Amino acid sequence: MPAPSSASRRTVLRGAAAAPVAGLALAACSAPDGSGAAADAPTAPVDLGAENEVAKGGAKLYRDHNVVVSRAEDGTLKAYSTICTHAGCPINKLRGTTLVCPCHGSEFDAVTGKVVQAPATEPLTELPVKAAKGRIVAGPAN
Ligand code: FES
Repeated sequence: MPAPSSASRRTVLRGAAAAPVAGLALAACSAPDGSGAAADAPTAPVDLGAENEVAKGGAKLYRDHNVVVSRAEDGTLKAYSTICTHAGCPINKLRGTTLVCPCHGSEFDAVTGKVVQAPATEPLTELPVKAAKGRIVAGPAN
């Protein structure tokens, strides 16, 4: 009886395919380490990595720290929290110099922090950033 068995397999597969998508959406809006704590940008200066990882005119997303760093053509560094200003999801995607929020699709310019795509309306929070001994250090001093 091939027909009934293939129909029921299709049903099972459809159910299985939907579950991971729901799981991903949930995970994207909670702490990446699964601790249940709210994801946050640094509250103190953190060493992000080698200075030469951010090219002039480019940007780099540091997912573990919820920070994006961009470098202007004149070499100036800028850093922003990548906690979305719409509903607080950690932004996990950088396309060129455009940050894309996984939750509702807001987009931000990593060079200016400004919103380039709603639903977010507020710019990203700027963080102090500097290069020290060839390393990029970002986050508020306390
Ligand atoms: S939380 Fe980022 S678009 Fe809604």
